[in-house]
Amino acid sequence: MAAASRSLITTREARLDDAAHVAHLGAHVFTVTYGHSVAAHELQAYLDEAYSVEACASDIADPNKDLILAIDPEGIIVGFGILTRGSKEPCIAHLEDYVELQRLYVSTAYQGFGVGKILAKQLESMAREQGFRYMWLGVWEENYKAQKVYEKLSYKLIGKRDFVVGGVLQTGLIMLKEL
Ligand SMILES: CC(C)(COP(=O)(O)OP(=O)(O)OC[C@H]1O[C@@H](n2cnc3c(N)ncnc32)[C@H](O)[C@@H]1OP(=O)(O)O)[C@@H](O)C(=O)NCCC(=O)NCCS
Repeated sequence: MAAASRSLITTREARLDDAAHVAHLGAHVFTVTYGHSVAAHELQAYLDEAYSVEACASDIADPNKDLILAIDPEGIIVGFGILTRGSKEPCIAHLEDYVELQRLYVSTAYQGFGVGKILAKQLESMAREQGFRYMWLGVWEENYKAQKVYEKLSYKLIGKRDFVVGGVLQTGLIMLKEL
């Protein structure tokens, strides 16, 4: 992606009729990123649960979530991120006014060109406007690239948690940033 094109990436809130595109992008990026860590049938079970068109439509319609899209100059959705209100995590229970950066996914062809940063900054700005003071997120302990990206964006490791992908227990790192 040329630098000029990069500067033309725009963001907007997802609409219900974006659900199929979000599902397709999310399922593809998830499979490329995590597919090797679980058996094929377990991966499919997770994709069916989290990245069906219905599941993405439900995320878009959820009043506790803001799903933001990154759009390239041709109008193609190349990334998305979700701000999720009301989710909890024991290691941040002592804090107040926190919100979750629930997902940050960029199309494989666009990774490393600043799209994830654009989405994260947009979600952080929205969180600030909504009165939140902290943003937290969970990232798989073996997803070293995403951890580096979040460190660059000033998120700090503050804890761990277990999570299940298609029946397989995994360890996630919890990272936090003061907005
Ligand atoms: C993680 C992800 C969202 C980041 O988006 P991206 O568009 O690739 O990242 P950006 O190009 O915006 O990079 C943001 C910052 O991280 C840095 N960065 C990007 N890739 C990096 C890498 N592999 N190693 C170290 N730093 C990296 C960039 O240099 C940039 O730093 P800067 O602000 O100093 O310029 C994207 O790679 C992705 O979708 N990965 C697969 C899904 C995933 O793992 N999502 C996270 C789930 S928790």
